[in-house]
Amino acid sequence: MPVYLDHAASSVLRSEVRDEFLAHLEVVGNPSSIHGYGQSARQLVEEAREQIAKAVDCNRSEVILTSGGTESDNLAVKGIFWQRNGEDAARRVIISAATEHHAVIDPLEWLEKSQGAEVIWLPVSNEGLVELDALARVLAERANEVALITLMWANNETGVITDIHEVTALADKYRIPVHSDAVAAFGHLPISFATSGLAAMTITGHKIGSPIGVGALIVSRNTKLVEVAHGGGQERGLRSGTLSPALAKSFALAAELCVAEAEAMAAKHAKFAGAILKSLSAIKDIEVTLSRGGAAGLPNILHFSFAGCSGDSLLFLLDSAGVSVSTGSACRAGVAEPSHVLLAMGRTEAEASGCLRVSFGHSTTEAEVQAFIDALPAAYASAKKAGLSAK
Ligand SMILES: Cc1ncc(COP(=O)(O)O)c(C=O)c1O
Repeated sequence: MPVYLDHAASSVLRSEVRDEFLAHLEVVGNPSSIHGYGQSARQLVEEAREQIAKAVDCNRSEVILTSGGTESDNLAVKGIFWQRNGEDAARRVIISAATEHHAVIDPLEWLEKSQGAEVIWLPVSNEGLVELDALARVLAERANEVALITLMWANNETGVITDIHEVTALADKYRIPVHSDAVAAFGHLPISFATSGLAAMTITGHKIGSPIGVGALIVSRNTKLVEVAHGGGQERGLRSGTLSPALAKSFALAAELCVAEAEAMAAKHAKFAGAILKSLSAIKDIEVTLSRGGAAGLPNILHFSFAGCSGDSLLFLLDSAGVSVSTGSACRAGVAEPSHVLLAMGRTEAEASGCLRVSFGHSTTEAEVQAFIDALPAAYASAKKAGLSAK
């Protein structure tokens, strides 16, 4: 039985969503065309927008459909920075944290290198929590220079949750827009954009059981941003490009389903995490990164570190035993790197290379979890024999 416990990387396509995708795949017409075919295609996209708006509790006009999380993050941080910096050249500071996903970190570094921005990276505790006292201090000193704040709702490697409401309350004192990457959080935590105080929020479909290649940036009605892609002026002029009714409807159904199931799924995932944690306690040298009950964590992500072997060798050994998990860290151009998230949490390179992420999704079964529990001790023993040489 193949075991897939890497839903935080990309989840499994839901069967209802596959049916929805196929049902609309042959829809004829460009949703921007004014003839009947175009109107029917447009109607599907607008239905999808309404469904997505309900799922994240926002107004339908606030849903900007994109190709996924990376595009949404780029649009948010570049678009808000250009808008605010264009209105007031003194506003060139962006506040973020080094535990963000590369879809945020890399555009920020690019803005710094080529667009005159200055990024302030907030300190992160060794449990992975962004230090919000430091945010308050930076704002007190430099609020007039800040263009935006971008902090993820929950971390995709460790599962650590940021108190976004506290972030927006701090920012609101100075009327500074906040963007949050909610890719890892959506479907696993209750999310209301309307009450979040956010200016913009990123979500993507393939983490919640929709096909890859569709997502959204939720942009509040009073947030202005400069577009990144120029063209046909679709999506309030913020994201040009012809929309796919099939992808939009698939994403919308996945969003509806994951919100409807979130509570029951969180309870199921907490049970799975409990079973794995219990089994880990019997293995010497394994340390659970996130002390559950301490730092708040996503129910579907379990992250742990261990001594004496690299996460990659453990990952390969588990994979050859039919169990797919992840180290959670980036693998760029086929070269494994130590996790930038763990480095930001104060771990050494060796420690940041010795970790594993298990993540559950809508399709995860008890049998899969048990197969992981059964395979881990032998894989860990073999990986330890190989030492840290897998890099
Ligand atoms: C937190 C986070 N943000 C953004 C992304 C990028 O999303 P996409 O793969 O839809 O471009 C991911 C995907 O790994 C993610 O985990």
